[in-house]
Amino acid sequence: MSRVFGYHSFGGPEVHTYFDRPDPQPQDGEILIKLRAAGVARIDMALRSGHLQAFNGHLPFPQIMGIEGAGDVLATGAGVTDFRVGDAVFGFVLNGAGTYAETTVLSAANAARKPDELSYENAAAIPVSGTSALDALDGLDLPDDATVLINGVGGSTGLVTAEMAQARGLTVIGTGSDGKRPVVESLGVTFVSYQAGDVSEQVHALAPAGVDGLIDLVGGESMRSVAGLVKDARQLISVTDEAVGELGGRFVVRRLDRSGLEKVAALMVAGKTGAHISRSVPFDQAADAVAAVESGHSTGKVIITFAA
Ligand SMILES: NC(=O)c1ccc[n+]([C@@H]2O[C@H](COP(=O)([O-])OP(=O)(O)OC[C@H]3O[C@@H](n4cnc5c(N)ncnc54)[C@H](OP(=O)(O)O)[C@@H]3O)[C@@H](O)[C@H]2O)c1
Repeated sequence: MSRVFGYHSFGGPEVHTYFDRPDPQPQDGEILIKLRAAGVARIDMALRSGHLQAFNGHLPFPQIMGIEGAGDVLATGAGVTDFRVGDAVFGFVLNGAGTYAETTVLSAANAARKPDELSYENAAAIPVSGTSALDALDGLDLPDDATVLINGVGGSTGLVTAEMAQARGLTVIGTGSDGKRPVVESLGVTFVSYQAGDVSEQVHALAPAGVDGLIDLVGGESMRSVAGLVKDARQLISVTDEAVGELGGRFVVRRLDRSGLEKVAALMVAGKTGAHISRSVPFDQAADAVAAVESGHSTGKVIITFAA
């Protein structure tokens, strides 16, 4: 048996709790891991609310929270040849087994070996935010000296996207609340506070001819208010609001395979981006970690850690 954090019905924070479950058994192509760190992502709450039931195949209850994590391989299922017991790995858990859990199973195809240079915490931060940053930037077609606007730069995906953009030679402008200014400016990003006046006017003053690319991480009215700042709407991407298509832009869903995980890990090892973990809490404080991210205004990445 191992301890997990999940829910027996859809709802808000009132439905999530701890309970025990038998250790899952790795099926064909899967690996069983002992978690050392789990990333907390906004999708975890969207799944708990019941709004994204198709994402993990309309699973039965109870459901376990978390789709990203890092840990050590305890057992391998039939057909797994690329991982062995004891390997340190990280990846996506897309079968509903969860990562707010002492143990879990994941498909070997959605996992990668953790480089020795990366901590389990940093590796657990890669799957959702890191690969989304990579895919958003790969989705833009920009010259080397281009300027990109990141709407919602202070969160877990925004800070990584900003650093990766700079590593590509791009000039970055980012939006957020006043509290995000110190961390964003420490990266060399030009910061625009949405609490200091009209965002569109502020960005226009910085880039009178418009920006070459725009990555939206907020959606809704916020996305619509800045969309006109991009010179060519084909260089407008949102990872959060499919209505971006109505504005001439594109919705990007991150890739889930090993190659994206490995690419982001290599960038971290090379110092091209950090994981930007703002808060790391032990598993018995999982509810606090969820609350921080569910606020919609967290800084960087929030991680849950497990005893070795
Ligand atoms: N499609 C995909 O594959 C994919 C992948 C990753 C993420 N996403 C989605 O993308 C969104 C962002 O993800 P995330 O991981 O970065 O979330 P996050 O860590 O919660 O960060 C969101 C950030 O946006 C800021 N923000 C909120 N309202 C804003 C506004 N009006 N203008 C500017 N900034 C604002 C928040 O703080 P402040 O307001 O204090 O600045 C916060 O720092 C989420 O909806 C997530 O579900 C989708």
